Amino acid sequence: MKEKLQKIQEKAMSQIRSASDLSMLNDVRVSVLGKKGELTSVLKSMKDVAAEERPKVGQMVNDVRSEIERMLEEAKEAMESALREAKLKAEVLDVTLPAKKNCVGHRHPNTIALEEVERIFIGMGYEVVEGPEVEYLDYNFTKLNIPEGHPARDEQDTFFIDSRICLRSQTSPVQARTMERGKLPIRMIAPGRVFRSDEVDATHSPSFHQVEGLVIDKNITFADLKGTLEEFARELFGENTRTKFRPHHFPFTEPSAEVDVSCFKCGGKGCRFCKGSGWIEILGCGMVHPHVLEMCGIDPKEYTGFAFGMGLERIALLKYEIDDMRLLYENDTRFLKQF
Ligand code: DAH
Repeated sequence: MKEKLQKIQEKAMSQIRSASDLSMLNDVRVSVLGKKGELTSVLKSMKDVAAEERPKVGQMVNDVRSEIERMLEEAKEAMESALREAKLKAEVLDVTLPAKKNCVGHRHPNTIALEEVERIFIGMGYEVVEGPEVEYLDYNFTKLNIPEGHPARDEQDTFFIDSRICLRSQTSPVQARTMERGKLPIRMIAPGRVFRSDEVDATHSPSFHQVEGLVIDKNITFADLKGTLEEFARELFGENTRTKFRPHHFPFTEPSAEVDVSCFKCGGKGCRFCKGSGWIEILGCGMVHPHVLEMCGIDPKEYTGFAFGMGLERIALLKYEIDDMRLLYENDTRFLKQF
């Protein structure tokens, strides 16, 4: 009996030693100490032991049992502490390492320029409105006094969708839409994307942005137009900025003008920036053509108004002295970071 117990103990000890994880340890416990375990079956055979031997044998069985239990417990603790060690090592956190640098986003130069333009006009009592980028030819052309067959339809290299619809080639259709709504007087600007089938280069892109402006009220004159745009130019480019209105032609305004501002780089003396002329062109404008008013449901005998339109990219390029429009679309963060 003693030998048998010794064998059980030795076998259990060697199994415990070679166990490599907790579940193997548990297997050992079950196979030795479990209900059907080896040691348990020895206990069950106690009835075959002579009565006077029983206490002694019983004592031996108990000793073996507690020895095996002790070893199991010891092995379990060792394993658990090794696991804890490994986990701690794996999760080690070096608080002395420098933190990861978070890159914060930037407003795009176009956005900055637009917010500046909006700020100036909102300050003068204008509201900001929007129109659709996919537009009826009716609004893009006809109601702006550019009837079918008019050469100005070709000048703008329009993307046509079908015989009635195009990608708007200018923000001016928002003028027609706003007038048609019939709420007078009107003081609005309409920023937005426009499309023209142009090749990409330093000053062209098939998709760019314009800001349209429209004022309709009683007794609006060219003097209001001049005063408004002069004030706008001073706010945008600095107090000493001078403006020059050059006669021009747009189908939807009469009279029409292009506006130049004195070069904010050289003050008008002439430099590389203004190509030596001292002046920089920034927008087109004019008094809303009576035909346009009529087509949009406004009586030209009662109301007059002025309109203007500018390229937003052009404003951004000028204001931030960027010499290539493509930089605005490439979204190279090394470029954008500077604003
Ligand atoms: N729509 C014109 C263009 O794209 C710009 C323009 C000129 C708009 C004069 C106007 C205006 O409202 O009065 O070239």
